[in-house]
Amino acid sequence: MMLKTLLLHRTTTIHSLRCKFNTIPHREMTTGTQSIVSRLKSSGLLQTKGLIGGKWTDAYDGRTIEVNNPASGEVIASVACMGEKETKDAISSAYEAFGHWSKLTGSERSNRLRSWYNLLMEHKEELGELITLEQGKPLKEAIGEVGYGASFLEFFAEEAKRVYGDIIPSTLPDRRVLVIKQPVGVVAAITPWNFPLAMITRKVGPALACGCTVVIKPSEFTPLTALAAAELALQSGIPPGVLNVVMGDAPKIGNSLLESTQVRKITFTGSTAVGKKLMAGAAETVKKVSLELGGNAPCIVFDDADLEVALKGTLATKFRNSGQTCVCANRILVQEGIYEKFTSAFSNAVKDLKVGNGFSEGVVQGPLINEAAVQKVESFVQDAISKGAKVLAGGKRHSLGFTFYEPTIIGDVKNDMLIARQEVFGPVAPIIRFKTEEEAIQIANDTNAGLAAYLFTNSIKRSWRVSETLEYGIVGVNEGLVSTEVAPFGGYKQSGLGREGSKYGLDEYTEIKYICMGNLG
Ligand code: SIN
Repeated sequence: MMLKTLLLHRTTTIHSLRCKFNTIPHREMTTGTQSIVSRLKSSGLLQTKGLIGGKWTDAYDGRTIEVNNPASGEVIASVACMGEKETKDAISSAYEAFGHWSKLTGSERSNRLRSWYNLLMEHKEELGELITLEQGKPLKEAIGEVGYGASFLEFFAEEAKRVYGDIIPSTLPDRRVLVIKQPVGVVAAITPWNFPLAMITRKVGPALACGCTVVIKPSEFTPLTALAAAELALQSGIPPGVLNVVMGDAPKIGNSLLESTQVRKITFTGSTAVGKKLMAGAAETVKKVSLELGGNAPCIVFDDADLEVALKGTLATKFRNSGQTCVCANRILVQEGIYEKFTSAFSNAVKDLKVGNGFSEGVVQGPLINEAAVQKVESFVQDAISKGAKVLAGGKRHSLGFTFYEPTIIGDVKNDMLIARQEVFGPVAPIIRFKTEEEAIQIANDTNAGLAAYLFTNSIKRSWRVSETLEYGIVGVNEGLVSTEVAPFGGYKQSGLGREGSKYGLDEYTEIKYICMGNLG
């Protein structure tokens, strides 16, 4: 089974197959970056090799990939560019380690996960710096991601002790019907660049909690955070082979993971296009699959909304991580009675957002991940303008250059424009005007995506009515930031399969076994 699309992107961009993925002109490190990098090196957190069976391992053919700082084009490090052979060895290590790890008690696994959580929290500043360096988000937001990412380990450390089964009343007097839950086996976790830590822990936390072992393939844009997290996992006493990391040649790694009969589950966060290919690829060996794919989140502001709450919530959901999350509002639907007031206040607020290098004081909007991402945003904005939409704020590349784009608001958008049909994954807020609640719901549901939706209203009745009618897996009512380890994260329709986080997240990593005890009479 060939996986032709590279697994590099949350977007659908297809890259040529090389071990050099940087798309921005690269430069040597400045003194500021050098000092952060040397501090990370001396703390042992700057790892550049893959992790196989508990050993830091170079690519077998010695190839490497450069990792760039998207804010400056600086080369931060070169990491191993691995392929098929390394992936096969990582799978074998995970398979071997499964025998021991799955037999530990829930409480023993819980202790290891809790130690890993403690280490992530102890190193949250350094991990935050690493995230800002390779992903670009502002340092405060990056440190926030460490707390968010670590929370999945804490939550699933607790859940490890609660992988309950069932006893079902039998239909026959001499029988007993029992259900136990068992770990699915070796898990392949393919993770994106937009949350280089949290998307790993949200998968690995529940997998390890119930006794699975894992091969992680992080994004080649942000492998350093994954490797640092793996180093801390080793330090926390998680045994060799339980957690492996391979990165580099994405199609080769992807194909090896898909083809292996030892890999029993594939979990992926990324673009819908790649998710569909993985799902098709997993069919050959009938793996369990969970997919957290693209969204097209509507954010509906009704006339009866509290303007301040709606502004704050919309800003938060749209501009988190410079618009690079799959739950970012992708379409802002505003009712006609509040349209002028809302758009003018929203445009003013957006003009105040400070853009820059994530290490600079007061910056709340970092760069986009790469040049391809900026070009995509530009093409969506141009398409909207050419079809009659109006730029109310921003609308072009930022004068800082590189991959910075101005926080942008576009008014008079129609739901059939490209920007409303596809995920923009950048700091652009398209505003669509509507008249009635029915019309808003019709527009909101008119998409193949169904991950997150938001609504702002002061009516309790409307909150329930609209929440229940929206075809989305997550609904924020008068709230723009909804992600938390205790709630199920996942989508309807083509936004994916399965749920991450919460008690439901554990089910994705277990098999249900029915044991029939007969002839007890
Ligand atoms: C994502 O963008 O894939 C995840 C966002 C979140 O966890 O809030």
